[in-house]
Amino acid sequence: MASVSPAEKRRLLSETPFFAAFPPAQRDALAAHLTERSHADGDTVFLRGDESTSLMIVASGRVALRLTSPQGREILLAILEPGEIFGEMSLLDGRGRSADAVAFGPCRLLSLDRRDMLPVLQDSPEACIRLLELLSTRLRRTSDQLEGVALMTLPSRLARLLLTLSETHGTRRNAEGEVLLPLALSQRDLGQLIGASREKVNLQLGRWSAEGLLRRQDGALVICDTEGLADIADIGAP
Ligand code: CMP
Repeated sequence: MASVSPAEKRRLLSETPFFAAFPPAQRDALAAHLTERSHADGDTVFLRGDESTSLMIVASGRVALRLTSPQGREILLAILEPGEIFGEMSLLDGRGRSADAVAFGPCRLLSLDRRDMLPVLQDSPEACIRLLELLSTRLRRTSDQLEGVALMTLPSRLARLLLTLSETHGTRRNAEGEVLLPLALSQRDLGQLIGASREKVNLQLGRWSAEGLLRRQDGALVICDTEGLADIADIGAP
């Protein structure tokens, strides 16, 4: 991949929602400190416990954040899209990474050292508030995931996940009102996001397909009945 020019770094930072609200002079100063890395699909960006403390920005492609048990079982915490940031926890507390980050397809990342970012946070209440908002959003999602695993049935967890993905991962509606989910997520990935096995996800998608709630098309999922899925997502809690 071609390397990112200084002008491109400034542009990328201004288009990253987290940095967009920063004063332009501060943002441009930070852009000068960005370093770039490219990763092939499946590359490890870092592992849980690693000592790195920089903030990472997804410039292109996607990154999966996950936890892996010593027995090799995995939970997918999130899949990040271009413009999203990660690594803020080690940046803030200076401790080891709290999760693994893995390239989900080829991706390009920009990173900012803790020593360049901390003075900005010390000087700018706005920047601190942006970071707190981000942490709150992540905590809310994690609470939802926890609630799903502990309190909801598999169909309602899966229905809620598909609806969330519809909102967050660039879906579009066709003339019939169907929502296309062109995401390269495997059934195993979907299972990892809701704490279920690939087999159970496969079975449930098959049932919904037979019931006309969704269908598969060229590797994508097409949600034919969003309201039906929303009903399932709501009624699943015991
Ligand atoms: P850090 O701990 O530096 O490295 C791993 C990153 O994964 C972490 O910062 C956050 O950016 C991100 N992360 C950790 N836990 C979660 C979570 N529950 N939901 C979303 N992102 C997370």
